[in-house]
Amino acid sequence: FDSHPPHRPLYGRHVLVTAGPTHEPIDPVRYIANRSSGKQGFAIAEAAAAAGARVTLVAGPVVLQTPPGVERFDVETAREMAEAVNEALPADVAVMVAAVADWHVENRAGQKIKKNGHGLPPLELVENPDILAGLGQSPGKPPLLIGFAAETDNVIDYAVDKRQRKGADWIVANDVSGDVMGGRENTVHIVTADGVEDWERMDKERVAVKLVERIADALSR
Ligand code: CTP
Ligand code: CA
Repeated sequence: FDSHPPHRPLYGRHVLVTAGPTHEPIDPVRYIANRSSGKQGFAIAEAAAAAGARVTLVAGPVVLQTPPGVERFDVETAREMAEAVNEALPADVAVMVAAVADWHVENRAGQKIKKNGHGLPPLELVENPDILAGLGQSPGKPPLLIGFAAETDNVIDYAVDKRQRKGADWIVANDVSGDVMGGRENTVHIVTADGVEDWERMDKERVAVKLVERIADALSR
């Protein structure tokens, strides 16, 4: 009897994934958000489930089907995402793929803001909680904590800095200077304590499968 057959290397593990954008309301019809289709995060959740893990997927607003075998919680704002992540703990691995909005609007309007009359609406922005950094500092930090960093320039330098600043074990640095956003493919670099691994451009499903293999390998050590 083997409870860890080679094709289900994450059997018995809990993998937490965040995916998609968050939306921060300005008024009932408008919001602030980062661009994110959610495809990469959903692909990672799917690959982890296929590898035998119990998978919790905390998803911002996206139009994607829940992958088979994945438990999904839908949220809208960064603060809701932070709460859902905390409720999903403990986890053996957390993969924070979400493009979390950096700010929310403190003075959000209860009614639709009208253009006519009073000039531009003053938006008071307040920084959102950093979910990844919060996990990195918490006593409940998952043994393997993985962040993503979408960058248009100085990709590696920023990712190395984010890894240290946020207390992540790995950062998957994502070069978004091309047409990655919403696209099928991704070019990533895996930044760990041991250095940087450059992966060739490949489709997001393949990135997910390779990353899950790398996770299973790290957990088995
Ligand atoms: N992240 C998070 N909570 C936030 C912001 C970011 O959990 N409020 C996570 C993302 O899910 C990602 C990582 O942190 O895994 C890096 O996100 P990124 O936006 O690149 O980092 P920031 O610190 O917000 O830096 P930047 O100024 O480049 O946006
Ligand atoms: Ca950000």
